[in-house]
Amino acid sequence: MLKFSKGFTIFYAMIHTIHIFAVFIYGGFLFVDNLFLSKMTQTLNEDEHKKAREAIMMHVRKVVPYALLVAVASGLYMITQIFGEIGEDGMSSFQIMLSIKAFLASWLGIRGFNQKFFGINPWVFTSHVFPFSLVIIIILLSQFMYIIN
Ligand code: HEM
Repeated sequence: MLKFSKGFTIFYAMIHTIHIFAVFIYGGFLFVDNLFLSKMTQTLNEDEHKKAREAIMMHVRKVVPYALLVAVASGLYMITQIFGEIGEDGMSSFQIMLSIKAFLASWLGIRGFNQKFFGINPWVFTSHVFPFSLVIIIILLSQFMYIIN
């Protein structure tokens, strides 16, 4: 019989797994875009680059924005389960880091939602590197929140 660590249910484990896959897909695209696709201009002329990029983006648009929404939705569920009570002497470092992570991730989520469904393009920061940097900070916070006391 399968046993789960104290307080964790199979449902939570499933949502956590979905979160990780969604983050892989969304974050993975940003890594590929910033590290490799951005370099296509070095070998392709403007017209070739436009065509090559569109050939990729037409598939990206069908998957990546939804992966971000799934990451945010699954994250919001998990935070309600593991945030815990705020102690008398304020938030723990886990709670502070998780809150910052959730704030930054929600920002990405609202930005992505506006972009996908309302064509508002993009929210507050226009740079390509901006969502990529946020993802790196979010991933680091997701790990450090468990390590730093
Ligand atoms: C409002 C949005 C989000 C909330 C509230 C949220 C919340 C959470 C929570 C509570 C965990 C801990 C799960 C656990 O260990 O049981 C977690 C893990 C994680 N999240 Fe999010 N998340 C959100 C969006 C995102 C986004 C957009 C990314 C990255 C693009 C992300 C990346 C990660 C990573 C890398 C982990 C660590 C997974 C692991 O080590 O097992 N999250 N998130």
